[in-house]
Amino acid sequence: MKSALRILLLEDNNHDAELIQELLEADQFVCEITRAQTRGEFVAGLEDAGLDLILADYKLPSFDGLSALQLALDARADLPFIFVSGSLGEEVAIEAVKIGATDYVVKSRLSRLVPSVQRALRETRERAERKKAEKAFRRSEMYLAEAQRLSHTGSFGWDLASGEIYWSEETYRIFEYEPASAPSLQLVLDRTHPDDRTHLQRILDRALIERTEFTVEHRLLMADGSVKYVRAVAHPSAGEDPGSFVFVGAVMDITERKRAEEERERLRQLEADLAYINRVTMMGELAASLAHEIKQPVTAAAINAQACSQWLRRDPPDPPKASEAAAAMVAALTRTADIIDRVSSLYRRGKPERELVDLNEVVREMSVLLADKATRSAVSIRTDLDPALPASTADRVQLQQVLMNLMLNGVEAMQDKGGELTVASKRTEDGQLLISVSDTGIGFSSDAAARIFDAFFTTKPQGTGMGLSISRRIIAAHGGRLWESSTTGQGATFQFTLPVGATAS
Ligand SMILES: Nc1ncnc2c1ncn2[C@@H]1O[C@H](COP(=O)(O)OP(=O)(O)OP(=O)(O)O)[C@@H](O)[C@H]1O
Ligand SMILES: [Mg+2]
Repeated sequence: MKSALRILLLEDNNHDAELIQELLEADQFVCEITRAQTRGEFVAGLEDAGLDLILADYKLPSFDGLSALQLALDARADLPFIFVSGSLGEEVAIEAVKIGATDYVVKSRLSRLVPSVQRALRETRERAERKKAEKAFRRSEMYLAEAQRLSHTGSFGWDLASGEIYWSEETYRIFEYEPASAPSLQLVLDRTHPDDRTHLQRILDRALIERTEFTVEHRLLMADGSVKYVRAVAHPSAGEDPGSFVFVGAVMDITERKRAEEERERLRQLEADLAYINRVTMMGELAASLAHEIKQPVTAAAINAQACSQWLRRDPPDPPKASEAAAAMVAALTRTADIIDRVSSLYRRGKPERELVDLNEVVREMSVLLADKATRSAVSIRTDLDPALPASTADRVQLQQVLMNLMLNGVEAMQDKGGELTVASKRTEDGQLLISVSDTGIGFSSDAAARIFDAFFTTKPQGTGMGLSISRRIIAAHGGRLWESSTTGQGATFQFTLPVGATAS
């Protein structure tokens, strides 16, 4: 042993003390010995933190070995304590070891001293290492338990041969069972929401047969009636005993995530509802225009029907003329059906559908729909469309909605004084489609400009304030951008881009 062995030696006899030191040093120990002969000296010696070993005589003039042992056990229970005494009877020795002495060596057989010291030191070292390993293990156990709690993830093991199941603390907590209860499949099934039991049972049955990895999501119905969502994943592995087979897995409490998902879905639905309300509100605005728009071809059809019947009643009848009138009637009615189709698509609550959309055509349609309302507001609608505009992959109804929002806002801004609404389309230099809607109306203050895209911001008595916010969302979902670019005092201009071949999401 290389580093010096620090020994506290309780011994009144100088000769014996020297003998002990010689014995130890003869056997490659380098010793640093602190001698103590009294209680005071012994207590002081115990304070040396670097101490490795205590050797003590049993009988001293002013002190005794057993009291020393007691003091040592109280202060330094980790240190080996060996009695080295001439007068230690067998019974006393056994008693001393029982109390906590490491060993005893009688002076008449001092040859035992070195092996005894060696063994004591080895045992002490091993004990220290074991303690360290245990501490590290306990710490990692504690960290693991804490991590499981934080992540709401428990672990489990399931031995298929014995049917034995292990649950971690967190697994007990998730299932809300007392840690004293023995885990079982039945407990899991009992806790599982009745509607999910068959599903869970089926997955477990299959896992048992196929012995392959499984994932299952199900609900738990807790004792207080609340519902939890859990996801369990497990994979098969060979057990500790040869031929055995276990599933090792984790069970996560995903209730919070589920609730957040539900909340997101609820908001998405709310948004869709608002977008729908926005469309229906606008259509209300346009009811008069619509009536007018439909009335015109219907009137034309009626006139042609009349003409047709007159040609047939003639003597002789004129079938070519009659058939011409009938064809005109069909054309007029087809147009009516067409208009109704287009309009009713705005009332429908379908899922977004992508198709190739000609934006110029959408602009023209909307101009027609708005024409009547525009005329009543002394507004003229002008279009300036790029004939070479490529089609865009988009949701037609949603784009109709955007254009209608922007055009209606424009007409409403000119309601009192009249003016001109210009809708233009062109291709930008980087190949996108650009649509602009400009009016010569009241415009807005810079204060208002900062808020017009906010949901529910409106300056109109009947407005919902959703038009621009919904339009911006729709354009963004198509991969484009919608913004306002007015020059103060000159009405308002709104523009949006759409990528060619954009896909709505
Ligand atoms: N072309 C415009 N000229 C002047 N102000 C406008 C124009 N477009 C929008 N605004 C202003 O922005 C506000 C918000 O417009 P938005 O379309 O979002 O809602 P709204 O028109 O008030 O209500 P709704 O669209 O439900 O009828 C309007 O109230 C108005 O103050
Ligand atoms: Mg509006």
